[in-house]
Formats: sequence, structure tokens, C-alpha cells
Amino acid sequence: MDTYARISIRFFMLICIFTSSGVIVAGESSADKDMIKRGQYLIQIGGCNDCHTPGYLMNSGTTPIAQWLTGDSFGWFGPWGTTYPPNLRLFVQNLTEAQWIKEAKTLKRRPPMPWFNLNAMKNEDLKAMYHFIKSLGAPGKQAPAFLPPGKQPPMPFATFPAPPPDKQVKK
Ligand code: HEC
Repeated sequence: MDTYARISIRFFMLICIFTSSGVIVAGESSADKDMIKRGQYLIQIGGCNDCHTPGYLMNSGTTPIAQWLTGDSFGWFGPWGTTYPPNLRLFVQNLTEAQWIKEAKTLKRRPPMPWFNLNAMKNEDLKAMYHFIKSLGAPGKQAPAFLPPGKQPPMPFATFPAPPPDKQVKK
């Protein structure tokens, strides 16, 4: 084999390496995109926007994604006090994927947060939700702070009856 042929073979191999690594990179980013899309879907059908996205429940889910999960100042008033759905972008901001999964599988919160549904979600689903929340833009500001029982919240808020005594969960 002459030198020219050898060089061309090497050159050809180099091109192959570059091309295949390019394919791998492109493959990874489209897998990420799929995961983020799945996270968006799970957040939507999991009902998270209903409370954690401003106006979402009342405007038939038309709140733009740019505002999803930024928390809400609509209060949920009951014997537990008044709770406000926190800004989930801020909540995940300082958590690693593993910390989020652990939190999501174990956390308990005051009503009306359906923490028991979140606890029941599978790791793969929680992972996708995490990457979707992280992919959302500017985190925005904190929702109003929790008000202790008996403190009158400002409008707007909804009033709830007490849950049965044996079903009450302390934070
Ligand atoms: C019916 C309303 C409602 C729905 C639906 C809901 N949440 Fe919540 N969520 C709340 C409220 C209110 C709180 C704050 C409870 C408290 O102060 O103890 C909360 C708290 C949380 C927290 C704790 C945040 C922190 O800062 O401590 C997480 C995480 C969370 N929700 C995630 C979710 C996810 C994920 C979904 C969808 C699967 C979801 N929530 C659905 C109302 C809701």
C-alpha cells in the first residue's frame, strides 16, 4: 500500500469517528427532548398545574407554559390554616435529580396538596418531571407564605371543611 492510500484510509477512519460521535451526541439530545416532553405530559395529566400554575384551573388550562409551576397566590383556607401552592421551579432549583426523587417519594404536606399521589409515582416518571421543570425558564418569585390556623387570609381564597380527625396529617 502506498503512502497516499494509507493516509486516505486514516483520513476515512477519522471521518467515521467524527460522524459516529456526532450521531451519538444528536441521539442523546433527542432522548433528552423526549424525556422533557414526557415530563410535560406527566405534569399536565398529574394535575400539578391545577394548583401550582396561576389561573390554570379557571382558564381551562390555557396559561402559557412560560408561567407553568410558578406558584399561586390563591389561598386554600381550612382548619390547617391557609396554604399556597409553592413555586415548583424554585423548589427543584437546588435539588439534584436523586434528591428530587427522594423528596417526591416521601414528602407530606398540608391540604390540598395530594402528596400521596406524588409519593406513588415511579422513579422514571419523577425523573422526566424533574427535567421538564428544570427546562422551564426564569424561576419567578415565591408564592405567599403559609398562614397559621385562625389567621384570616386576604382574598381570593377557598374555604374547606375539616378532614375527619383520624385522617388529619401534621406536616
Ligand atoms: C389541589 C391543589 C394541588 C395539586 C393538584 C398539587 N399540589 Fe403540590 N402543593 C399544593 C399546596 C397547597 C402545597 C403547599 C402545602 C403546604 O404548605 O403544606 C403544595 C406543595 C407541594 C410541594 C412541596 C413544595 C415545598 O416548597 O415544600 C411539592 C414538591 C408539590 N406540591 C408538587 C406537586 C406536584 C408534582 C403535583 C402534581 C403531581 C402537585 N404538587 C399537585 C397544592 C397542590
